[in-house]
Amino acid sequence: MKTAVRYYSKLGNTEKIAQAIAEGAGIEARSIVEEPALPEKVDVLFLGGAPYANIMAPELKSYAERLTTELVGKVILFTTSNWSRRTVLALKKLLKEKNIPVEEEYFYAHMLNISGRTEAAKEFGRKMV
Ligand SMILES: Cc1cc2nc3c(=O)[nH]c(=O)nc-3n(C[C@H](O)[C@H](O)[C@H](O)COP(=O)(O)O)c2cc1C
Repeated sequence: MKTAVRYYSKLGNTEKIAQAIAEGAGIEARSIVEEPALPEKVDVLFLGGAPYANIMAPELKSYAERLTTELVGKVILFTTSNWSRRTVLALKKLLKEKNIPVEEEYFYAHMLNISGRTEAAKEFGRKMV
């Protein structure tokens, strides 16, 4: 099974969670800024980002908008924030409208507890693949 972890992170919190999920899944996480498109089809895509003034980064929105059922079998979401889960809800809606299956379970870490959630993120990556 082919798996990928992609994220958008301005301040580094989501990046740390992405790296932990990727470690659990036995792969490497990549920023969507470094790699703006998946080079090949994946069965499972872990995709994460955070809200900034209540909305996800435009880069992440446009990345999700460019995904297709030919490129990805299923998406598993993760997010970090101060309080909001909005990024997950918005991505879920956007992807479902494109008929891309989205796992109901997602991973959340509060921005002040990133290191406290690292082990759980690794476990999440392990158990979801
Ligand atoms: C400019 C700015 C706006 C933010 N707006 C929100 C927000 O509306 N809701 C929220 O829960 N967190 C908000 N946050 C907190 C970030 O979502 C949180 O720090 C997140 O972990 C950042 O992820 P990153 O480190 O991967 O960029 C904001 C942070 C910044 C810097």
